[in-house]
Order: sequence, then C-alpha cells, then structure tokens
Amino acid sequence: MLVLGIETTCDETAAAVVERQRDSSGRILSNIVRSQTSEHARFGGVVPEIAARAHVDLLDGIVGQAMKDANVGFAQLSAVAAAAGPGLIGGVIVGLTTAKAIAMVHDTPLIAVNHLEAHALTPRLTCALAFPYCLFLASGGHTQIVAVVGVGKYVRLGTTVDDAMGEAFDKVAKMLSLPYPGGPEVERAAGSGDAKRFAFPRPMLGRPDANFSLSGLKTAVRNEANRLTPLEPQDVSDLCASFQAAVLESTADRLSVGLRLFHEQFGPPRALVAAGGVAANHAIRGALQDVASKAQTTLIIPPPALCTDNGAMIAWAGAERMALGLTDTMDAPPRARWLLDANATAPAGFANTRAGF
Ligand code: KG4
Ligand code: ZN
Repeated sequence: MLVLGIETTCDETAAAVVERQRDSSGRILSNIVRSQTSEHARFGGVVPEIAARAHVDLLDGIVGQAMKDANVGFAQLSAVAAAAGPGLIGGVIVGLTTAKAIAMVHDTPLIAVNHLEAHALTPRLTCALAFPYCLFLASGGHTQIVAVVGVGKYVRLGTTVDDAMGEAFDKVAKMLSLPYPGGPEVERAAGSGDAKRFAFPRPMLGRPDANFSLSGLKTAVRNEANRLTPLEPQDVSDLCASFQAAVLESTADRLSVGLRLFHEQFGPPRALVAAGGVAANHAIRGALQDVASKAQTTLIIPPPALCTDNGAMIAWAGAERMALGLTDTMDAPPRARWLLDANATAPAGFANTRAGF
C-alpha cells in the first residue's frame, strides 16, 4: 500500500510517500519538509496568514518532489492523506484541498487525518510498536498525555489548562530577547546557568490528575526578569536554567501520574513515547527516561525529523486507517479544533486559545 501524506497545519509545509507492507510494517520512500521558520522569525511566532500563503506557494512543488523522490506516479497511490486539523485553519484548508484535488483527479481514496493521531501512531512506523502505549506530546501547540489503545482509540489522560509547553519556552525566550523558536535557545542558555538561583513554582505538583499548567510559571519568569532589568547574560542563563528545572520537575510529576492512570485503565504500557519539538530537549529527555524507568517501561523517542511535524507521519496514519477501511468522503471538513479523544472534556481552568485540546 502506497500513501501520499500532506501536512500543513502549522508552519511546516510537508509531503511524503510511505509504503505499508502486508505484515503491517512501514517504509518511508520520501519525506520532504520545508520549515517556514525564517518567514516567521521576525514576528517572534507563527503568523497564520503568512503561513497559509506560504503553504499555497510551496505545497505543489513539495508534493511533486515527494513523488519524484519516491519514484512513484499518482496512479500507483493507494490513498492520499492530509492533516485535516487541528491547526491553523488557513493552512489546513490548503493541504486538505490539495489532497482532495489529487484524490478526485486520480480517483484515489482520500483520508482526512487528525494531526495528533499522526504523532500518536509514528512509533508504529519507526519501530512497529504494539498497542497499548502512552504518548507524551509536547510541541508549540500541544501538551498532552494520551493512552494510545488502537487506531482511532485514544484516551486523553492529561492536557494543559493554559499554554502549550513549547509555547512557554518560546514566550520565555521572547521576554529574554532570545531568538525564535525559543526552545533550543532557552536550552542552550540554561546550559551555562544556575538552576537554583530562582525558586520558580513547580506547576500542578502533587495533583491527582495528569494535567499541566505553564502560564503561572511563565509569569513568574517575567516578573523576575522585569525586576532584574537590565539583564546581564548570566541573569538570562540563570533564568533559563531555573525555568527549565521547574518545567522538568513538573513534567516528571505529571507524567508519573499519567502513567499511573494508564496502568489503572489499560494495564502496563508497552512504552512511553515522546513526540513534538519539546522532545528534542536533552534535559527533558533525561527526565522522561527517569520517569519511564521508575514505571518499568521503555522510553521511545522517534528520530527528531519524525518527532516534529512531517508528511511521513500523516501518510503512515493514512495507511493505518486505510488498512482498516477508514476512508473519507470529499466533504471531509478542515478543522481548527479536533479532539483526539471525543470523550475528553476541558479541564478546570482551561484557557487555551490554541488548537487541538
Ligand atoms: O513539533 P514542533 O516542531 O512544531 C509544532 O509546534 O507543531 O514543535 C516546536 C516547538 C516550539 O515551541 C519550540 O520552541 C519547541 O518545540 N522546542 C523546544 C526545543 N526544540 C524545539 N523546546 C524546548 N527545548 C528544545 N530543545
Ligand atoms: Zn505537531
């Protein structure tokens, strides 16, 4: 089975061709990702209108390149999959409409993929992981702990009540005048900082649910930065190190609760899987390793290019759905918001304006 996958929900324009074999293993034939970071950098964050226009400009060429690299013709495709949400609606419309056009012209099945489902199923592409497993997804738009029970069967165990984790890293970077995207900059600065200099709050520590909160911590960093202004380079490093230490401690606590909830409902998880840009952070990886070891499970982090947004994960999720006969019709809607777990309700204090909770 050959599936073309298209991803345009945020600021990556991406397309890939993935093959799913009879034994249900997967192989990536091509995977083209064009990040728009440079277009958005001077605004300190993703500008939805600029993203949508860039997707329009770039997508045709990127789909063509993905098909060429895979050495596959449109007539050979078993399905065309696009991320139909959650995400920035202008970009989602561009990707989904392109997929519909290809599907219609070549009389190929369409699969409207939930972007979060694609992150959730990636370890089945990279290491044929069996269900059930626990996913920790932390990116610029999402912070969730999800029980991945089967294709289309997801139970959200925890989510953020305010900012996403990557968003908090980006905002802290911005207030300290570090470039965008802020996560890697904060991590770098933290490397030469004193994590004990500022006693920032450890959000949600000890709570019985597995939810996250990051906006109070972010405000605490802002208050301290304002108090110290003008900031010396050492102040910036110490603020970053102290912020990162608070995120680590909170994340470890929230995940250990999440894994406990998982165990109660689904038995032992086959693995703890981390995905999203924040999973690139080495200190966070270390904390995840500790949490997984304590819970007697394995930590799996897909390679960085498959942790962040890409077309291969959309193609693979499309292939997994196709194998179960789950195709979509031409009126499949683009969705700014699209819960992975239809039964999940917003936790108390829910204030996030970004998609996908
Ligand atoms: O998954 P991703 O590439 O895109 C989406 O947001 O969908 O994640 C990007 C986010 C940004 O907020 C970025 O600052 C954060 O991941 N990030 C990091 C690190 N690298 C990227 N956060 C903390 N430490 C890092 N090393
Ligand atoms: Zn993503």
